[in-house]
Amino acid sequence: MQEQLKAILESAKQNIANASTKEDIEKIRVDYLGKKGQLTGILKSMGSLSKEERPIVGKIANEVRESIETMIADAAAAVKAAEKDVKIKEETLDVTVPGTQRKLGAKHPISVTIDEITKIFMSMGFSVADGPEVETVFNNFDGLNAPQNHPSRDLTDTFYIEDQENVLLRTQTSTVQIRTLLSQEPPIKIISPGRCFRCDTPDATHSPMFHQVEGLVVGEGITMADLKGTLDAFVKKLFGPETKTKLRPHHFPFTEPSAEVDVSCFKCGGKGCSVCKGSGWIEILGAGLVHPNVLKVGGIDTEKYSGFAFGMGVERVAMLKYEIDDIRLLYENDMRFIEQFK
Ligand code: DAH
Repeated sequence: MQEQLKAILESAKQNIANASTKEDIEKIRVDYLGKKGQLTGILKSMGSLSKEERPIVGKIANEVRESIETMIADAAAAVKAAEKDVKIKEETLDVTVPGTQRKLGAKHPISVTIDEITKIFMSMGFSVADGPEVETVFNNFDGLNAPQNHPSRDLTDTFYIEDQENVLLRTQTSTVQIRTLLSQEPPIKIISPGRCFRCDTPDATHSPMFHQVEGLVVGEGITMADLKGTLDAFVKKLFGPETKTKLRPHHFPFTEPSAEVDVSCFKCGGKGCSVCKGSGWIEILGAGLVHPNVLKVGGIDTEKYSGFAFGMGVERVAMLKYEIDDIRLLYENDMRFIEQFK
């Protein structure tokens, strides 16, 4: 029996030395120490030994069991360590391998232009007001002193919301003038960039959806000189320090007097070129002193306060600045076009 025990220890040693996985080791444990294992078999048959032999063999059997247990524990620990090493090696990050490139988009030229205009006015102390694209007829027309028969009110010019005669898609950001006059007390100094809609068939210069930036200043003693000075400072920052402004008389229902504002051509400096169509001047916005009827909507004392307002087309400014010759290019979502403005 002692020989058998020695042989078991030897074969266990061999097998454990050859084991390389957790499963191998578990199998060995069951083979030797399990209920039907080789060593267990011997221990069970010890009953047939003589009284003298039993303690001797018992001692050896225990030693063999302990050795096998220790060997198994050591082997299990070694396998675990080896597996960890493999895992660490597999998970090593090779920083020299080229990464996957993420394609970055570009800001749309309309957003770039709005941001630029906003930044300039904010530097002059204006704050930004916001208004909804779906508006009331009052905020878009009546409150702005538009006569009942004004052609822009026509169904052919304005998108009305079906079944709601008093709701429309705003045709101008001037609606924000009414909202601001109703919600703020003078002094007022705001701009409001946003989207507008008109029933226009798209062509190179028209789009049924477009953007404007509105401006409104109300305070004591505001005159045309303030309007001219403000716009002059603005265009010099937007188009360059040499830029001049020219006010031409015009008519808008919500201003009196009203003017259209031209800037000297930033491309040719006024000599005449393709951008200014040979005239040396480019029309960029409408403006004027806020009509007393409009101020009255906001309950503003027209004896004490006066104001100026202006509105410019963002597409027009962007198209001039970036020499874009067709407004439709702005809305085709063609990345080849948009990426030119990175
Ligand atoms: N709302 C006008 C338009 O869409 C632009 C405009 C002109 C706005 C004169 C103004 C203004 O505030 O004073 O054509």
